[in-house]
Amino acid sequence: MELMEKVVSLCKRRGFIFPSSEIYGGLNGCWDYGPLGVELKRNVKQAWWNDMVEHHDETDTLPGAPSPYGMVGLDSSLLMNPKVWEASGHVGGFSDPMVDCRETRNRYRADQLVVFALELTAADGARTTFDEMLFAALGEAGKTEDAALIEPHRKRIAALQKSRSAQTLSLRVIPNALYDEALRAKTLAPGASAPGTLTAPRAFNLMFKTHVGALEDNSSVTYLRPETAQGIFVNFKNVCDTARVRVPFGIGQVGKAFRNEINPRNFTFRSREFEQMEIEFFCRAEDAPKWYGYWRNRRFQWYLNLGLRPGNLHLREHDQSELAHYAAGCADVEYDFPFGRSELEGIANRTDFDLRQHMQLSGKDLRYFDDQESDPEKRRYLPYVIEPSAGADRATLAFLCDAYSEDEVGGEPRTVLKLHPRLAPIKAAVFPLVKKDGMPEKALDIYRQLKRRLHVYYDEKGAIGRRYRRQDEAGTPYCITVDGETLTAGTVTVRERDSCAQTRVHASELAAFLLERIEA
Ligand code: GAP
Repeated sequence: MELMEKVVSLCKRRGFIFPSSEIYGGLNGCWDYGPLGVELKRNVKQAWWNDMVEHHDETDTLPGAPSPYGMVGLDSSLLMNPKVWEASGHVGGFSDPMVDCRETRNRYRADQLVVFALELTAADGARTTFDEMLFAALGEAGKTEDAALIEPHRKRIAALQKSRSAQTLSLRVIPNALYDEALRAKTLAPGASAPGTLTAPRAFNLMFKTHVGALEDNSSVTYLRPETAQGIFVNFKNVCDTARVRVPFGIGQVGKAFRNEINPRNFTFRSREFEQMEIEFFCRAEDAPKWYGYWRNRRFQWYLNLGLRPGNLHLREHDQSELAHYAAGCADVEYDFPFGRSELEGIANRTDFDLRQHMQLSGKDLRYFDDQESDPEKRRYLPYVIEPSAGADRATLAFLCDAYSEDEVGGEPRTVLKLHPRLAPIKAAVFPLVKKDGMPEKALDIYRQLKRRLHVYYDEKGAIGRRYRRQDEAGTPYCITVDGETLTAGTVTVRERDSCAQTRVHASELAAFLLERIEA
């Protein structure tokens, strides 16, 4: 089984993530978090809120961090006045190019449907491209070397290879082929029986439309928010007027976002309903490059601090050609998911684009007033914005994939989720060694005491080895066993998940022992 299949199977088996409304066949792009999953995702969001908003000045350990700054939180509504999305550009421009297959009725994002031509290389090195037989495969442009994309076409390739045995055949990507009518007519879509079934790409707006109130006409249309960011921009003035914040400062928000993705895929990676963890950080235009660099490094470091393996994490600065027209810089934190390297979070210098747009369309003065600025010219201005925008579901998926491991303990195979203790859904499990001699009573007593401070679990069923394995699969970092010595000397064994090392700790010191290690 491939790693991704193993992670998906563990998620289902142990109650991390289920398909949404599964008993009715599910709903593509929507997922439910089960008892372990909801704790894990809550811990991811809590770690973000704690480190970025609530205790940001204690958790900022980057050397050379810029001067102190303020951080406050916000929880804005999902439904907003539709003018918000006009001003932000989402009504006019938040779309993906979409193509339909008339035969299979499948719908694809044009930029994810890669079109190949077969290329023949003769003995003397001369190359001929056979564009009379093009085929499309679903993949991200630039990742087309993936053998799985080519596999469905092996038969056709083999037939051609047979007829021209002295020469080698390879594949060549034809960029933008779907935008060319003649090339499209020769393209075989995935699963189609003949070429020419794909429609021309057309813009497909990703926002979910809905109606507010009883009337279902154009006057009542609004949208489920496709990002949490705009809720922050439209509250910029409210926060400035009430929270005694001074530029530079940031507003953080965690919440649901909805996008009618054409091809939701790779488990929760690209969903139609997901959660974002976004910061809009307001600063003077001249300081924006400094703060951009700062947030890019700080957000990258956050994932490392929570245990993602450094080799799997990458920071990719966008080329000038990739930047949105209003952005002065953008970098992605990328993670090596089992299905390929993909974006985990984006950090952008959005200039003053959003505040300016909202100021224009609403007619409200959204400029910041700096009463301590001596130069009257510089007192009133629109700040620049640095936006670190992360996905809670994507981060959760990355933590799950990174933590998944298999090893052997005492000659037996085990599956273990090596989650950072701060993220682990259950922090410790308490077991009586046997179900007699007063051990269950003592273990329950310890469990109840720990429960006041930590999410703990009690289990007395089955052999102790099996109980350990169950907790290893759930990612529980510590298992506490009450045995004969507990009754005589008051000590318990604490087994550490990854090393399986056991330490004896006095029951009265357990809470402190665990908290010190979990919060590290
Ligand atoms: N406000 C900027 C913004 O929304 P984005 O790159 O479109 O930027 C930011 O989204 C983050 O939200 C992504 O890096 C990703 O973690 C998450 N995200 C975006 N679309 C998603 C989807 N369809 N499913 C899951 N997460 C998604």
